Amino acid sequence: MLAFTKKTNSAALAFLGGGAFWFAIGATYGLFSAIDLVAPDFFQNIAVFVFGRVRPTHVNTVIYGFITSMLIGCAMYMVPALLKTRLWSERLGWVSFVLWNASVLSGPIGFPMGYTQGREYAEYLWAFDVTLMLALLALIVNIVMTIAHRRENSLYVSVWYFVGTAIWISAVYPLGNVMWHPSTGAMPGLLDSIYLWFYGHNLVGLLLTPLAVGAAYFVVPRITKTPLFSHTLSLVGFWALVVLYTHIGGHHLLQAPIPNWLKTISVVDSLMMFIPVGAVLANIWLTARGKTSLLWKDPAGRLVLFGTLFYLVTCIQGPVQSLPSVQRLTHFNNWVIGHAHIAVLGFSGFVALGAMWHVLPDVCGKKIWSQRLVSLQFGLVMIGIVGFFVVLTVAGLIQGGSWYNGETVYRSLPLITPYMVMRALLGLFIIASAWVGLVNFIMTLRHGQPHISTPIEEAPS
Ligand code: HEM
Ligand code: HEM
Repeated sequence: MLAFTKKTNSAALAFLGGGAFWFAIGATYGLFSAIDLVAPDFFQNIAVFVFGRVRPTHVNTVIYGFITSMLIGCAMYMVPALLKTRLWSERLGWVSFVLWNASVLSGPIGFPMGYTQGREYAEYLWAFDVTLMLALLALIVNIVMTIAHRRENSLYVSVWYFVGTAIWISAVYPLGNVMWHPSTGAMPGLLDSIYLWFYGHNLVGLLLTPLAVGAAYFVVPRITKTPLFSHTLSLVGFWALVVLYTHIGGHHLLQAPIPNWLKTISVVDSLMMFIPVGAVLANIWLTARGKTSLLWKDPAGRLVLFGTLFYLVTCIQGPVQSLPSVQRLTHFNNWVIGHAHIAVLGFSGFVALGAMWHVLPDVCGKKIWSQRLVSLQFGLVMIGIVGFFVVLTVAGLIQGGSWYNGETVYRSLPLITPYMVMRALLGLFIIASAWVGLVNFIMTLRHGQPHISTPIEEAPS
Protein backbone atom coordinates (compact mmCIF):
# COMPACT_ATOMS: atom_id res chain seq x y z
CA MET A 1 0.00 0.00 0.00
CA LEU A 2 1.16 3.54 -0.79
CA ALA A 3 4.17 2.09 -2.61
CA PHE A 4 5.22 5.55 -3.82
CA THR A 5 6.12 6.49 -0.24
CA LYS A 6 9.00 4.00 -0.38
CA LYS A 7 10.53 5.39 -3.55
CA THR A 8 13.97 6.99 -3.11
CA ASN A 9 13.76 10.79 -2.77
CA SER A 10 9.95 10.73 -2.85
CA ALA A 11 9.65 12.53 0.51
CA ALA A 12 12.15 15.17 -0.62
CA LEU A 13 10.12 15.64 -3.81
CA ALA A 14 6.91 16.03 -1.80
CA PHE A 15 8.46 18.78 0.34
CA LEU A 16 9.83 20.56 -2.76
CA GLY A 17 6.44 20.42 -4.46
CA GLY A 18 4.76 21.61 -1.26
CA GLY A 19 7.13 24.57 -1.17
CA ALA A 20 6.37 25.52 -4.79
CA PHE A 21 2.63 25.28 -4.11
CA TRP A 22 2.67 27.28 -0.86
CA PHE A 23 4.80 29.99 -2.50
CA ALA A 24 1.92 30.66 -4.89
CA ILE A 25 -0.74 30.57 -2.18
CA GLY A 26 1.26 32.55 0.40
CA ALA A 27 2.20 35.30 -2.05
CA THR A 28 -1.42 35.62 -3.15
CA TYR A 29 -2.42 36.21 0.48
CA GLY A 30 0.28 38.91 0.56
CA LEU A 31 -1.64 40.67 -2.20
CA PHE A 32 -4.88 40.52 -0.19
CA SER A 33 -3.01 42.12 2.74
CA ALA A 34 -1.53 44.77 0.45
CA ILE A 35 -4.97 45.60 -1.01
CA ASP A 36 -6.36 46.00 2.51
CA LEU A 37 -3.64 48.56 3.22
CA VAL A 38 -4.45 50.52 0.06
CA ALA A 39 -8.25 50.33 0.16
CA PRO A 40 -9.58 49.01 3.49
CA ASP A 41 -13.14 48.91 2.11
CA PHE A 42 -12.23 46.96 -1.03
CA PHE A 43 -13.33 43.60 0.39
CA GLN A 44 -16.53 45.09 1.85
CA ASN A 45 -15.59 43.88 5.31
CA ILE A 46 -15.96 40.24 4.28
CA ALA A 47 -14.55 38.54 7.37
CA VAL A 48 -12.17 36.16 5.62
CA PHE A 49 -10.41 39.05 3.86
CA VAL A 50 -9.92 41.47 6.74
CA PHE A 51 -6.30 42.47 7.27
CA GLY A 52 -5.97 40.84 10.69
CA ARG A 53 -6.84 37.49 9.12
CA VAL A 54 -5.07 37.56 5.77
CA ARG A 55 -1.80 38.96 7.12
CA PRO A 56 -1.01 35.99 9.41
CA THR A 57 -2.16 33.62 6.68
CA HIS A 58 0.35 35.27 4.34
CA VAL A 59 3.23 35.35 6.80
CA ASN A 60 2.89 31.81 8.18
CA THR A 61 2.28 30.30 4.75
CA VAL A 62 5.37 31.86 3.19
CA ILE A 63 7.62 31.05 6.15
CA TYR A 64 6.50 27.51 7.00
CA GLY A 65 4.82 26.49 3.76
CA PHE A 66 7.04 27.99 1.07
CA ILE A 67 10.59 28.54 2.29
CA THR A 68 10.95 26.03 5.09
CA SER A 69 9.21 23.24 3.15
CA MET A 70 11.39 23.86 0.10
CA LEU A 71 14.58 23.88 2.14
CA ILE A 72 13.59 20.77 4.10
CA GLY A 73 13.03 19.07 0.73
CA CYS A 74 16.53 20.14 -0.34
CA ALA A 75 18.00 18.91 2.96
CA MET A 76 16.29 15.54 2.56
CA TYR A 77 18.11 15.10 -0.74
CA MET A 78 21.39 16.78 0.22
CA VAL A 79 22.07 15.00 3.52
CA PRO A 80 21.96 11.47 2.03
CA ALA A 81 23.83 12.64 -1.08
CA LEU A 82 26.65 14.13 1.00
CA LEU A 83 26.80 11.06 3.21
CA LYS A 84 26.75 8.68 0.23
CA THR A 85 23.80 6.75 1.55
CA ARG A 86 20.00 6.79 1.36
CA LEU A 87 17.55 8.65 3.56
CA TRP A 88 17.08 6.34 6.54
CA SER A 89 13.31 6.08 6.05
CA GLU A 90 11.32 7.51 3.13
CA ARG A 91 8.13 6.57 4.97
CA LEU A 92 9.13 8.57 8.02
CA GLY A 93 9.91 11.42 5.61
CA TRP A 94 6.33 11.21 4.40
CA VAL A 95 5.07 11.22 7.99
CA SER A 96 6.97 14.51 8.46
CA PHE A 97 5.50 15.83 5.23
CA VAL A 98 1.88 15.05 6.18
CA LEU A 99 2.19 16.41 9.73
CA TRP A 100 4.05 19.52 8.59
CA ASN A 101 1.44 20.28 5.96
CA ALA A 102 -1.40 19.76 8.42
CA SER A 103 0.06 22.71 10.35
CA VAL A 104 0.65 24.83 7.26
CA LEU A 105 -2.86 24.11 5.96
CA SER A 106 -4.38 25.15 9.28
CA GLY A 107 -3.29 28.70 8.37
CA PRO A 108 -5.29 29.34 5.18
CA ILE A 109 -8.23 27.33 6.56
CA GLY A 110 -8.28 28.40 10.21
CA PHE A 111 -6.99 32.00 10.29
CA PRO A 112 -9.57 33.43 7.87
CA MET A 113 -12.26 31.92 10.13
CA GLY A 114 -10.69 33.53 13.17
CA TYR A 115 -9.03 30.42 14.66
CA THR A 116 -5.68 31.76 15.79
CA GLN A 117 -3.60 32.22 18.91
CA GLY A 118 -3.06 35.79 17.82
CA ARG A 119 0.67 36.17 18.53
CA GLU A 120 2.83 37.16 15.57
CA TYR A 121 4.58 34.14 13.97
CA ALA A 122 2.97 31.93 16.67
CA GLU A 123 -0.60 31.98 15.38
CA TYR A 124 -1.09 28.24 14.78
CA LEU A 125 -3.50 26.67 17.27
CA TRP A 126 -2.00 24.33 19.85
CA ALA A 127 -3.07 21.16 18.01
CA PHE A 128 -1.12 22.36 14.98
CA ASP A 129 1.87 23.30 17.11
CA VAL A 130 1.79 19.63 18.10
CA THR A 131 1.65 18.34 14.51
CA LEU A 132 4.51 20.67 13.58
CA MET A 133 6.59 19.45 16.52
CA LEU A 134 5.91 15.81 15.65
CA ALA A 135 6.97 16.51 12.06
CA LEU A 136 10.22 18.01 13.35
CA LEU A 137 10.89 15.11 15.70
CA ALA A 138 10.36 12.63 12.86
CA LEU A 139 12.75 14.70 10.76
CA ILE A 140 15.39 14.69 13.48
CA VAL A 141 15.17 10.89 13.84
CA ASN A 142 15.43 10.52 10.07
CA ILE A 143 18.46 12.78 9.71
CA VAL A 144 20.28 11.42 12.75
CA MET A 145 19.72 7.83 11.62
CA THR A 146 20.89 8.75 8.11
CA ILE A 147 24.06 10.15 9.66
CA ALA A 148 24.46 6.99 11.73
CA HIS A 149 24.26 4.86 8.58
CA ARG A 150 26.53 7.04 6.48
CA ARG A 151 29.23 5.74 4.15
CA GLU A 152 31.17 9.01 4.18
CA ASN A 153 33.13 9.76 7.33
CA SER A 154 33.43 13.53 7.20
CA LEU A 155 30.35 15.63 7.84
CA TYR A 156 30.29 18.43 5.27
CA VAL A 157 29.13 21.75 6.72
CA SER A 158 25.68 21.57 5.07
CA VAL A 159 24.94 18.47 7.16
CA TRP A 160 25.92 20.39 10.30
CA TYR A 161 23.52 23.18 9.38
CA PHE A 162 20.61 20.86 8.56
CA VAL A 163 20.84 18.69 11.64
CA GLY A 164 21.52 21.75 13.79
CA THR A 165 18.44 23.53 12.44
CA ALA A 166 16.13 20.59 13.14
CA ILE A 167 17.35 20.32 16.74
CA TRP A 168 17.40 24.07 17.48
CA ILE A 169 13.98 24.83 16.08
CA SER A 170 12.39 21.90 17.91
CA ALA A 171 13.67 23.51 21.14
CA VAL A 172 12.79 27.10 20.22
CA TYR A 173 9.31 26.45 18.76
CA PRO A 174 7.61 25.05 21.91
CA LEU A 175 9.14 27.80 24.04
CA GLY A 176 8.06 30.62 21.75
CA ASN A 177 4.60 29.14 21.32
CA VAL A 178 4.30 28.62 25.09
CA MET A 179 3.03 25.14 24.36
CA TRP A 180 2.56 24.28 28.03
CA HIS A 181 -0.39 26.72 28.01
CA PRO A 182 -2.48 25.08 25.27
CA SER A 183 -5.53 27.33 25.54
CA THR A 184 -3.71 30.66 25.12
CA GLY A 185 -0.22 29.79 23.92
CA ALA A 186 0.91 32.86 25.81
CA MET A 187 2.55 34.08 29.00
CA PRO A 188 1.12 36.94 31.00
CA GLY A 189 2.15 40.54 30.31
CA LEU A 190 5.52 41.75 29.19
CA LEU A 191 7.13 38.38 29.80
CA ASP A 192 5.14 37.16 26.81
CA SER A 193 6.84 39.57 24.44
CA ILE A 194 10.26 38.39 25.63
CA TYR A 195 9.32 34.76 24.93
CA LEU A 196 7.73 35.71 21.63
CA TRP A 197 10.74 37.62 20.33
CA PHE A 198 13.21 35.06 21.61
CA TYR A 199 11.31 32.73 19.32
CA GLY A 200 10.50 35.26 16.56
CA HIS A 201 14.06 36.15 15.80
CA ASN A 202 15.28 32.59 16.18
CA LEU A 203 12.64 31.60 13.66
CA VAL A 204 14.58 33.56 11.08
CA GLY A 205 17.99 33.06 12.71
CA LEU A 206 17.88 29.38 13.61
CA LEU A 207 15.44 28.11 10.99
CA LEU A 208 15.49 30.09 7.74
CA THR A 209 19.11 31.25 7.96
CA PRO A 210 20.87 27.95 8.68
CA LEU A 211 18.69 26.02 6.21
CA ALA A 212 19.47 28.56 3.49
CA VAL A 213 23.18 28.72 4.35
CA GLY A 214 23.41 24.92 4.36
CA ALA A 215 21.77 24.78 0.93
CA ALA A 216 24.01 27.55 -0.50
CA TYR A 217 27.09 25.70 0.76
CA PHE A 218 25.92 22.69 -1.25
CA VAL A 219 24.93 24.45 -4.47
CA VAL A 220 27.79 26.92 -4.98
CA PRO A 221 30.72 24.42 -4.93
CA ARG A 222 28.70 22.08 -7.14
CA ILE A 223 27.83 24.59 -9.85
CA THR A 224 31.30 26.19 -9.83
CA LYS A 225 32.88 22.71 -9.67
CA THR A 226 35.25 24.00 -6.99
CA PRO A 227 35.93 22.61 -3.51
CA LEU A 228 34.76 24.75 -0.61
CA PHE A 229 37.26 27.55 0.08
CA SER A 230 37.67 26.72 3.79
CA HIS A 231 36.13 24.04 6.00
CA THR A 232 37.53 25.77 9.10
CA LEU A 233 35.84 29.05 8.17
CA SER A 234 32.59 27.19 7.58
CA LEU A 235 32.66 25.91 11.16
CA VAL A 236 33.56 29.35 12.54
CA GLY A 237 30.40 30.67 10.85
CA PHE A 238 28.32 27.77 12.16
CA TRP A 239 29.32 28.12 15.83
CA ALA A 240 29.31 31.92 15.80
CA LEU A 241 25.71 31.78 14.56
CA VAL A 242 24.69 29.59 17.49
CA VAL A 243 26.54 31.72 20.04
CA LEU A 244 25.38 35.12 18.80
CA TYR A 245 21.95 34.69 17.19
CA THR A 246 20.29 32.86 20.07
CA HIS A 247 19.81 35.92 22.26
CA ILE A 248 19.39 38.94 20.04
CA GLY A 249 15.57 38.80 19.98
CA GLY A 250 15.54 41.73 22.45
CA HIS A 251 16.35 44.08 19.56
CA HIS A 252 12.66 43.85 18.59
CA LEU A 253 11.73 45.26 21.97
CA LEU A 254 14.06 48.22 22.34
CA GLN A 255 11.02 50.51 22.59
CA ALA A 256 9.40 48.33 25.29
CA PRO A 257 10.12 48.29 29.05
CA ILE A 258 12.11 45.04 29.09
CA PRO A 259 15.24 44.89 31.32
CA ASN A 260 18.10 47.07 30.12
CA TRP A 261 20.66 44.27 30.30
CA LEU A 262 18.56 42.31 27.81
CA LYS A 263 18.48 45.26 25.42
CA THR A 264 22.24 45.80 25.79
CA ILE A 265 23.09 42.17 25.06
CA SER A 266 20.82 42.12 22.05
CA VAL A 267 22.31 45.30 20.58
CA VAL A 268 25.93 44.25 21.17
CA ASP A 269 25.43 40.77 19.74
CA SER A 270 23.49 42.16 16.78
CA LEU A 271 26.60 44.14 15.89
CA MET A 272 28.74 41.03 16.46
CA MET A 273 26.68 39.22 13.84
CA PHE A 274 29.26 40.42 11.32
CA ILE A 275 31.33 37.38 12.41
CA PRO A 276 29.00 34.55 11.28
CA VAL A 277 27.68 36.53 8.33
CA GLY A 278 31.18 37.55 7.19
CA ALA A 279 32.48 34.01 7.59
CA VAL A 280 29.67 32.50 5.51
CA LEU A 281 29.73 35.08 2.73
CA ALA A 282 33.52 35.20 2.48
CA ASN A 283 33.62 31.41 2.28
CA ILE A 284 30.92 31.13 -0.38
CA TRP A 285 32.19 34.02 -2.50
CA LEU A 286 35.82 32.92 -2.26
CA THR A 287 34.70 29.48 -3.40
CA ALA A 288 33.02 31.08 -6.41
CA ARG A 289 35.89 33.54 -7.05
CA GLY A 290 36.67 33.72 -10.78
CA LYS A 291 33.73 31.42 -11.55
CA THR A 292 30.74 33.62 -10.85
CA SER A 293 29.92 33.44 -14.57
CA LEU A 294 29.05 29.76 -14.03
CA LEU A 295 26.59 30.76 -11.31
CA TRP A 296 25.18 33.55 -13.46
CA LYS A 297 24.66 31.29 -16.49
CA ASP A 298 22.74 28.69 -14.50
CA PRO A 299 19.37 30.20 -13.44
CA ALA A 300 19.42 28.11 -10.24
CA GLY A 301 22.92 29.35 -9.45
CA ARG A 302 21.84 32.91 -10.23
CA LEU A 303 19.04 32.68 -7.67
CA VAL A 304 21.48 31.41 -5.03
CA LEU A 305 24.09 34.04 -5.94
CA PHE A 306 21.58 36.86 -5.55
CA GLY A 307 20.28 35.23 -2.36
CA THR A 308 23.77 35.62 -0.87
CA LEU A 309 23.92 39.26 -2.04
CA PHE A 310 20.59 39.96 -0.34
CA TYR A 311 21.95 38.23 2.76
CA LEU A 312 24.67 40.89 2.80
CA VAL A 313 22.12 43.71 2.41
CA THR A 314 19.94 42.21 5.18
CA CYS A 315 22.84 41.81 7.54
CA ILE A 316 24.17 45.32 7.01
CA GLN A 317 20.70 46.74 7.57
CA GLY A 318 19.96 44.47 10.57
CA PRO A 319 22.76 45.58 12.91
CA VAL A 320 22.25 49.23 11.94
CA GLN A 321 18.55 49.10 12.80
CA SER A 322 19.40 47.39 16.09
CA LEU A 323 20.79 50.69 17.36
CA PRO A 324 18.22 52.44 19.56
CA SER A 325 19.03 55.81 17.97
CA VAL A 326 18.26 54.43 14.48
CA GLN A 327 15.13 52.62 15.66
CA ARG A 328 13.62 55.90 16.78
CA LEU A 329 13.17 56.53 13.06
CA THR A 330 12.70 53.02 11.71
CA HIS A 331 10.65 51.10 14.30
CA PHE A 332 6.86 50.60 13.98
CA ASN A 333 6.76 51.44 10.28
CA ASN A 334 7.29 50.07 6.78
CA TRP A 335 11.08 50.20 7.06
CA VAL A 336 10.84 46.94 9.04
CA ILE A 337 8.50 45.40 6.46
CA GLY A 338 11.11 46.23 3.81
CA HIS A 339 13.78 44.49 5.90
CA ALA A 340 11.48 41.50 6.45
CA HIS A 341 10.94 41.00 2.71
CA ILE A 342 14.54 41.48 1.57
CA ALA A 343 15.56 39.05 4.35
CA VAL A 344 12.91 36.36 4.15
CA LEU A 345 12.21 36.43 0.40
CA GLY A 346 15.41 38.06 -0.91
CA PHE A 347 17.81 35.91 1.08
CA SER A 348 16.20 32.66 2.22
CA GLY A 349 13.51 32.58 -0.48
CA PHE A 350 15.98 33.11 -3.33
CA VAL A 351 18.34 30.45 -1.96
CA ALA A 352 15.41 28.06 -1.47
CA LEU A 353 14.25 28.54 -5.07
CA GLY A 354 17.76 28.20 -6.51
CA ALA A 355 18.55 25.11 -4.44
CA MET A 356 15.20 23.58 -5.38
CA TRP A 357 15.79 23.97 -9.12
CA HIS A 358 19.35 22.71 -8.67
CA VAL A 359 18.42 19.45 -6.92
CA LEU A 360 15.07 18.80 -8.63
CA PRO A 361 16.50 16.84 -11.60
CA ASP A 362 18.42 14.52 -9.25
CA VAL A 363 15.39 14.17 -7.00
CA CYS A 364 12.82 13.33 -9.67
CA GLY A 365 15.03 11.96 -12.46
CA LYS A 366 13.74 14.50 -15.01
CA LYS A 367 15.45 17.51 -16.57
CA ILE A 368 13.87 20.88 -15.75
CA TRP A 369 11.07 21.36 -18.28
CA SER A 370 12.04 24.93 -19.11
CA GLN A 371 15.20 26.69 -17.94
CA ARG A 372 13.75 29.81 -19.59
CA LEU A 373 10.87 29.74 -17.14
CA VAL A 374 13.36 29.50 -14.26
CA SER A 375 15.07 32.60 -15.69
CA LEU A 376 11.68 34.26 -16.04
CA GLN A 377 10.88 33.42 -12.44
CA PHE A 378 14.21 34.94 -11.41
CA GLY A 379 13.52 38.14 -13.39
CA LEU A 380 10.00 38.57 -12.02
CA VAL A 381 10.91 37.97 -8.41
CA MET A 382 13.95 40.29 -8.77
CA ILE A 383 11.78 43.17 -9.98
CA GLY A 384 9.33 42.50 -7.17
CA ILE A 385 11.80 42.27 -4.33
CA VAL A 386 14.05 45.17 -5.31
CA GLY A 387 10.95 47.31 -5.86
CA PHE A 388 9.50 46.22 -2.50
CA PHE A 389 12.70 47.09 -0.69
CA VAL A 390 12.98 50.59 -2.18
CA VAL A 391 9.30 51.47 -1.86
CA LEU A 392 8.87 50.16 1.69
CA THR A 393 12.09 51.74 2.92
CA VAL A 394 11.07 55.14 1.56
CA ALA A 395 7.55 54.75 2.99
CA GLY A 396 9.06 53.81 6.35
CA LEU A 397 11.31 56.86 6.39
CA ILE A 398 8.35 59.11 5.58
CA GLN A 399 6.33 57.57 8.42
CA GLY A 400 9.26 57.59 10.85
CA GLY A 401 10.16 61.17 9.95
CA SER A 402 6.65 62.49 10.47
CA TRP A 403 6.09 60.69 13.78
CA TYR A 404 9.53 61.82 14.96
CA ASN A 405 8.43 65.37 14.27
CA GLY A 406 5.25 64.95 16.29
CA GLU A 407 2.86 64.47 13.35
CA THR A 408 -0.24 62.39 14.06
CA VAL A 409 -0.69 58.99 12.44
CA TYR A 410 -3.85 59.92 10.54
CA ARG A 411 -2.04 62.83 8.86
CA SER A 412 1.02 60.78 7.92
CA LEU A 413 -0.89 57.83 6.46
CA PRO A 414 -2.06 59.62 3.26
CA LEU A 415 1.59 60.42 2.55
CA ILE A 416 2.39 56.75 2.07
CA THR A 417 -0.64 55.79 -0.01
CA PRO A 418 1.29 55.98 -3.33
CA TYR A 419 3.92 53.65 -1.88
CA MET A 420 1.29 51.19 -0.70
CA VAL A 421 -0.19 51.17 -4.22
CA MET A 422 3.26 50.56 -5.70
CA ARG A 423 3.86 47.71 -3.26
CA ALA A 424 0.60 46.04 -4.26
CA LEU A 425 1.49 46.36 -7.96
CA LEU A 426 5.05 45.11 -7.43
CA GLY A 427 3.58 42.18 -5.52
CA LEU A 428 1.99 41.04 -8.79
CA PHE A 429 5.50 40.32 -10.13
CA ILE A 430 6.26 38.12 -7.13
CA ILE A 431 2.95 36.31 -7.46
CA ALA A 432 3.53 35.79 -11.18
CA SER A 433 6.98 34.38 -10.41
CA ALA A 434 5.44 31.93 -7.97
CA TRP A 435 2.82 30.66 -10.44
CA VAL A 436 5.40 30.43 -13.25
CA GLY A 437 7.54 28.32 -10.91
CA LEU A 438 4.63 26.07 -9.99
CA VAL A 439 3.74 25.45 -13.65
CA ASN A 440 7.39 24.67 -14.43
CA PHE A 441 7.56 22.29 -11.48
CA ILE A 442 4.45 20.38 -12.56
CA MET A 443 5.53 20.29 -16.21
CA THR A 444 8.96 18.98 -15.15
CA LEU A 445 7.32 16.07 -13.34
CA ARG A 446 4.96 15.36 -16.22
CA HIS A 447 6.97 16.10 -19.34
CA GLY A 448 10.63 16.60 -18.33
CA GLN A 449 13.22 14.69 -20.38
CA PRO A 450 14.84 11.80 -18.49
CA HIS A 451 17.80 12.90 -16.38
CA ILE A 452 20.48 10.49 -15.23
CA SER A 453 20.63 11.32 -11.54
CA THR A 454 24.08 11.96 -10.11
CA PRO A 455 24.66 8.66 -8.32
CA ILE A 456 24.77 9.22 -4.56
CA GLU A 457 28.23 7.63 -4.53
CA GLU A 458 29.57 10.35 -6.80
CA ALA A 459 28.06 13.37 -5.06
CA PRO A 460 30.70 15.90 -4.01
CA SER A 461 31.39 16.38 -0.33
C1 HEM B 1 6.39 34.94 -1.23
C2 HEM B 1 7.22 35.85 -0.90
C3 HEM B 1 6.99 36.69 0.31
C4 HEM B 1 7.55 36.53 1.53
C5 HEM B 1 8.59 35.48 1.94
C6 HEM B 1 6.96 37.53 2.41
C7 HEM B 1 7.25 37.67 3.75
C8 HEM B 1 6.59 38.50 4.63
C9 HEM B 1 6.86 38.64 6.04
C10 HEM B 1 7.93 37.87 6.80
C11 HEM B 1 6.00 39.55 6.54
C12 HEM B 1 5.94 40.03 8.00
C13 HEM B 1 6.69 41.34 8.06
C14 HEM B 1 6.83 41.93 9.42
O1 HEM B 1 6.02 41.66 10.31
O2 HEM B 1 7.76 42.72 9.64
C15 HEM B 1 5.18 40.01 5.46
C16 HEM B 1 4.17 40.93 5.58
C17 HEM B 1 3.48 41.45 4.52
N1 HEM B 1 3.65 41.12 3.18
FE1 HEM B 1 4.86 39.71 2.44
N2 HEM B 1 6.08 38.26 1.68
C18 HEM B 1 6.07 37.78 0.39
C19 HEM B 1 5.31 38.25 -0.66
C20 HEM B 1 4.43 39.30 -0.58
C21 HEM B 1 3.64 39.81 -1.65
C22 HEM B 1 3.66 39.26 -3.07
C23 HEM B 1 2.92 40.85 -1.16
C24 HEM B 1 1.97 41.79 -1.82
C25 HEM B 1 1.44 41.68 -2.94
C26 HEM B 1 3.22 40.97 0.24
C27 HEM B 1 2.65 41.88 1.09
C28 HEM B 1 2.79 41.89 2.45
C29 HEM B 1 2.03 42.75 3.34
C30 HEM B 1 0.99 43.77 2.93
C31 HEM B 1 2.46 42.47 4.64
C32 HEM B 1 1.95 43.10 5.92
C33 HEM B 1 2.71 44.38 6.15
C34 HEM B 1 2.27 45.16 7.35
O3 HEM B 1 1.87 44.57 8.36
O4 HEM B 1 2.32 46.41 7.28
N3 HEM B 1 4.15 40.02 0.57
N4 HEM B 1 5.53 39.35 4.30
C1 HEM C 1 22.78 40.43 11.15
C2 HEM C 1 21.63 39.87 11.20
C3 HEM C 1 20.34 40.59 11.51
C4 HEM C 1 20.09 41.58 12.41
C5 HEM C 1 21.06 42.21 13.39
C6 HEM C 1 18.68 41.90 12.30
C7 HEM C 1 18.04 42.88 13.05
C8 HEM C 1 16.68 43.10 13.04
C9 HEM C 1 16.00 44.06 13.87
C10 HEM C 1 16.68 45.01 14.85
C11 HEM C 1 14.68 43.98 13.61
C12 HEM C 1 13.55 44.75 14.29
C13 HEM C 1 13.41 46.10 13.74
C14 HEM C 1 12.34 46.87 14.43
O1 HEM C 1 11.31 46.30 14.86
O2 HEM C 1 12.51 48.08 14.56
C15 HEM C 1 14.51 42.95 12.60
C16 HEM C 1 13.30 42.56 12.08
C17 HEM C 1 13.14 41.46 11.26
N1 HEM C 1 14.13 40.69 10.72
FE1 HEM C 1 16.13 40.96 10.95
N2 HEM C 1 18.12 41.11 11.34
C18 HEM C 1 19.09 40.29 10.85
C19 HEM C 1 18.95 39.31 9.89
C20 HEM C 1 17.74 38.81 9.47
C21 HEM C 1 17.57 37.65 8.64
C22 HEM C 1 18.72 36.82 8.09
C23 HEM C 1 16.25 37.48 8.47
C24 HEM C 1 15.49 36.44 7.67
C25 HEM C 1 16.00 35.39 7.13
C26 HEM C 1 15.57 38.55 9.19
C27 HEM C 1 14.20 38.72 9.26
C28 HEM C 1 13.56 39.69 9.97
C29 HEM C 1 12.12 39.85 10.01
C30 HEM C 1 11.07 38.96 9.33
C31 HEM C 1 11.85 40.97 10.82
C32 HEM C 1 10.47 41.56 11.14
C33 HEM C 1 10.01 41.10 12.47
C34 HEM C 1 8.68 41.74 12.82
O3 HEM C 1 7.64 41.17 12.46
O4 HEM C 1 8.68 42.82 13.43
N3 HEM C 1 16.50 39.34 9.77
N4 HEM C 1 15.74 42.43 12.27
